[in-house]
Amino acid sequence: MHQAVKVTDDIWYLGSSDRRLAKFENCFPIPNGISYNSYLVLDEKTVLLDTVDKSVSSVFLESLDYLLAGRPLDYIVVNHVEPDHAATLAEVCLRHPEAVVVGSAKTQSLIRQFFDISLQGRVLQVKEGDTLTTGAHTFTFIQAPMVHWPEVTVTYDQKDHILFSADAFGTFGALNGNLFADQIRMESAEIAEYRRYYANIVGKYGMQVQSLLNKAAGLDIEMLCPLHGPVWRVPKKIEQLIHLYAKWATYQPEDNEVVIFYSSVYGDTENAMQVLADSLGERKVRNIRMYDVSVTDASYLVGEAFRASHLVFAATTYNNDIFPAMAAFLNDLKAHNFQNRTVAVVENGSWAPCSGKKMLEILTSMKNMTVLGQTLTIKSRLREEQLEPLQSLAEEIAASIDKADLA
Ligand SMILES: Cc1cc2nc3c(=O)[nH]c(=O)nc-3n(C[C@H](O)[C@H](O)[C@H](O)COP(=O)(O)O)c2cc1C
Ligand SMILES: [Fe+2]
Ligand SMILES: [Fe+2]
Repeated sequence: MHQAVKVTDDIWYLGSSDRRLAKFENCFPIPNGISYNSYLVLDEKTVLLDTVDKSVSSVFLESLDYLLAGRPLDYIVVNHVEPDHAATLAEVCLRHPEAVVVGSAKTQSLIRQFFDISLQGRVLQVKEGDTLTTGAHTFTFIQAPMVHWPEVTVTYDQKDHILFSADAFGTFGALNGNLFADQIRMESAEIAEYRRYYANIVGKYGMQVQSLLNKAAGLDIEMLCPLHGPVWRVPKKIEQLIHLYAKWATYQPEDNEVVIFYSSVYGDTENAMQVLADSLGERKVRNIRMYDVSVTDASYLVGEAFRASHLVFAATTYNNDIFPAMAAFLNDLKAHNFQNRTVAVVENGSWAPCSGKKMLEILTSMKNMTVLGQTLTIKSRLREEQLEPLQSLAEEIAASIDKADLA
């Protein structure tokens, strides 16, 4: 049965959700599923904006047939060629030989790489600022390279002031009957999913996201139609989401808070971090969070690091190196161009502890990182005489939290 929901009078949502997939991009756990969004404009000409992942292609093709009701498909705008959006593109092109494929020069070359179809004579190559009028609607194409791939284009509808924003402003999670963000609770858990999606998927490309935000600032945006997650149509809420993006894109923390990330084989590093956390709590530091990096998936850890201002990293030494899950997490942060934080480091080792030095090497290779205190070295387990240095570390973190001036 077709699935088609109205976005506006003549724009339809014909995306769908996957609640079976364990990991998005075979990488990020999606316990609440994921939506793949596609939009159809039924103007004097008909325009399809992106397609969907192959997991939901059957219902998508059925919905497309239903909505077109025999009309030709005039244009397919390809904002992003990544297969979660373009896997069904070749099939739509075969079914609709009349459709002209619209995209940037890079879009065309990526389509040729991914699909064995000839688009000869049916391509409309667009560059920054080009427009396409389809009747009542005029669409402007805006380049957004590396948000999240080099070919990415976002499309602005001048009639309804809609930004079809590709992967930007998306989130994990299936759509469960509520297409619009204003119909869904948007509290810290939901925002955490927006942040986890942003940080892991486009977090590395803060500069490029900033450049897209600068272009968006010149547009009157009344609706945001991303390729994942709900549609935003309340301008004040759109502004808030854009404000969050501006923070994330400039690697500014949202919360003046502490997160403790630790690894532990036998439990002694964990014990030391619990003592540190309790000591921070006694100093009135609020909302402290602790994560065992072997237990919590790295995508959540990266999201939390993007959120908080003060981060403690405590790791066991393992084969003369950092415990593997912590090493992977730190390298992941580095790969995401992570910067601008206050950090402290604790190491543990039974004969030649060196994880602290190695963690600091990675952390100090990131931009604008402030390291608090000396690396605290634990040999097997925290000793009575180490309570004092641990408490002075807590004191230093608490004082720094007090001082931090977060806009
Ligand atoms: C596979 C393995 C390799 C280790 N390699 C080292 C090492 O190279 N240097 C060292 O000082 N300790 C090493 N250790 C010891 C742990 O770092 C040490 O016992 C630590 O106190 C464990 O802390 P935990 O109780 O938080 O797990 C290793 C432990 C394991 C299991
Ligand atoms: Fe993507
Ligand atoms: Fe995507």
